[in-house]
Amino acid sequence: MKISKSQLRNYALLLVLPVAGIGAASLGTHSFSALIAHGPIQQAHTAIECSSCHEAGSGSVRQQVQANLYYALGQRSSAVNFGYQPVTSEHCLECHERPNDRHPIYRFNEPRFAEARQQLGVNSCLGCHSEHEDARVSMDESACSNCHEDLVLKSDPLDVTHAQLVSEEAWSSCLGCHDFHGNHPHNPQTKVADAFHVDVVLDYFKNGLDPYGSPKFYEAKSND
Ligand code: HEC
Ligand code: HEC
Ligand code: HEC
Ligand code: HEC
Ligand code: HEC
Repeated sequence: MKISKSQLRNYALLLVLPVAGIGAASLGTHSFSALIAHGPIQQAHTAIECSSCHEAGSGSVRQQVQANLYYALGQRSSAVNFGYQPVTSEHCLECHERPNDRHPIYRFNEPRFAEARQQLGVNSCLGCHSEHEDARVSMDESACSNCHEDLVLKSDPLDVTHAQLVSEEAWSSCLGCHDFHGNHPHNPQTKVADAFHVDVVLDYFKNGLDPYGSPKFYEAKSND
């Protein structure tokens, strides 16, 4: 009998939750996050409820324990989610709907993005924003290469053309001039020397200052 890492984590959660004094259905409090999640939530999310991403699972905890035991013993074909359901992009979009998104995830279900889906999980918000890593963005800053390697502009306004940047594999330069979703009032620079340094971009990924400016076109909704 083989128990996967995620199953183990679920069993561990089951032990921890009652001890910590919170039911699986009420992850409404912040004080236990360090104990049970693998890392802190990103800074901008510390004020939103755990339950906006973690919905209670179906069935009572007792039924779930039973179902997973049967699964572990090979008497059931699938495990059930303990305590809460998996987090999906739908949860994110409830607060982050942006009709102007230049990279909306639904586009990445197209067949030509099969490889990017597999490598980066781009058809889900979580592919680039896995939570509990104390970071805004978990994507590799040079991942633009997955989809823009044939990039040539008809009349390129840059001092070093996009085609040249691509041939030099300068993929970590892209976010120095472009934000990803296009939700900032930022016009891309036209001189490579004016691009934000990659360290500034990486610092932004890790909760640091937002270099692209404000206000955003679409602000996130909060719980209230
Ligand atoms: C913005 C959404 C979001 C919020 C808010 C959030 N989480 Fe999570 N959490 C996730 C995601 C994504 C995962 C990865 C597992 C999954 O996809 O279900 C996760 C996983 C977990 C896990 C499983 C262990 C792990 O780290 O993978 C626990 C426990 C957890 N969260 C607790 C909490 C608690 C407690 C809070 C409130 C302080 C909270 N979460 C708030 C998105 C969120
Ligand atoms: C209950 C509403 C809510 C949910 C659900 C939610 N967020 Fe947020 N999110 C916010 C708020 C409010 C902020 C802070 C305001 C802001 O910075 O735009 C924020 C900030 C962020 C930021 C950082 C923005 C910045 O500039 O600092 C990212 C990235 C983000 N959310 C991604 C996600 C992802 C991915 C999910 C799904 C796993 C998610 N959010 C789920 C409300 C939510
Ligand atoms: C392929 C990777 C990728 C995917 C998929 C992705 N993001 Fe992002 N996201 C980024 C990067 C890179 C940034 C930083 C650049 C920027 O601010 O646009 C970012 C920034 C953000 C921000 C902060 C800036 C803003 O636009 O307000 C929010 C909020 C956000 N993402 C939410 C989401 C949500 C919600 C989804 C799913 C619908 C999602 N992202 C899917 C890569 C991704
Ligand atoms: C999973 C594929 C994918 C990834 C990864 C990706 N893009 Fe794109 N990008 C697209 C698609 C699709 C379009 C829409 C144009 C088209 O149909 O070719 C686009 C358009 C753009 C545009 C033009 C938007 C407009 O409205 O004119 C910019 C700028 C851009 N991407 C920058 C980036 C940067 C910077 C990165 C890396 C942080 C990146 N992209 C990563 C697929 C991707
Ligand atoms: C020095 C700043 C700068 C850098 C670095 C840069 N760009 Fe651009 N990019 C621009 C400007 C300026 C435009 C033209 C104005 C616009 O479309 O917003 C542009 C246009 C684009 C477009 C739209 C093309 C079209 O058909 O309209 C895409 C896609 C794009 N860039 C992707 C990338 C990618 C991928 C990288 C990394 C290899 C990159 N850019 C690096 C400034 C930059």
